[in-house]
Amino acid sequence: MKFFAINGSPRKTFNTAQLLDKSLEGIKSILPEAEVERIDLYDIPFNGCKSCFACKRINGRHYGRCVYNDDFKPILNEVTQSDGVILGSPVYFGDLTGNMRCFLERFMFPFLVYSNVETVNHKRMPLACIYTMNVNDEASYRMGYHELFDKYESTLERIFTKPEHLYVHETYQFKDYSRYVSDIFDEKERRHIRETQFPQDLQFAFEIGQNIAKKACD
Ligand SMILES: Cc1cc2nc3c(=O)[nH]c(=O)nc-3n(C[C@H](O)[C@H](O)[C@H](O)COP(=O)(O)O)c2cc1C
Repeated sequence: MKFFAINGSPRKTFNTAQLLDKSLEGIKSILPEAEVERIDLYDIPFNGCKSCFACKRINGRHYGRCVYNDDFKPILNEVTQSDGVILGSPVYFGDLTGNMRCFLERFMFPFLVYSNVETVNHKRMPLACIYTMNVNDEASYRMGYHELFDKYESTLERIFTKPEHLYVHETYQFKDYSRYVSDIFDEKERRHIRETQFPQDLQFAFEIGQNIAKKACD
């Protein structure tokens, strides 16, 4: 079996990447033989959907598939045929990162059918979404993050399966706060959250991975 974690952060060792790696550890704890891989989206030169509609052409050769022939195509093919996918994205300006949006356009659109009768036969693998952000829990509701991410998740559910999700708040943003202009943040408080809350978030990510593995075996 093969599982993917999709890293929508340009950083490969920070919050999102660490949480995704933990979720892959969770998968391995249930399925030691499974193959797991993290894809760092910012390493791949790719774009989102270019609206060619080849995936929706009547009797088209590429019906239900993305025809866009770039470095991302073989990766997309593997991910869409995998046994489970965990998406992770920092919040950038109240939304997913640009590369995660591009990923989702390519991941979802070929399978989104503009018809009540036509279908696309594709894999409905278990999914999870991990979001990391500066704001606290209360602000993430007040600023509409949950409303927006629920919409992404309901599209994912319509196409694949209902994703589990994890919101990780008040992340530690720099290795050394003294080197950056960041006086709106209380570094001591952030460090405290890093030391007390973040280990719990890593544990939640691990459990999400375990759940994905169990669902994949159902
Ligand atoms: C360009 C940019 C925009 C950001 N916008 C937001 C935002 O709108 N809301 C928020 O809560 N955090 C925002 N952040 C903070 C990141 O979401 C947060 O630090 C996240 O945990 C970073 O993930 P990483 O450590 O995996 O890279 C922003 C960070 C950057 C670099």
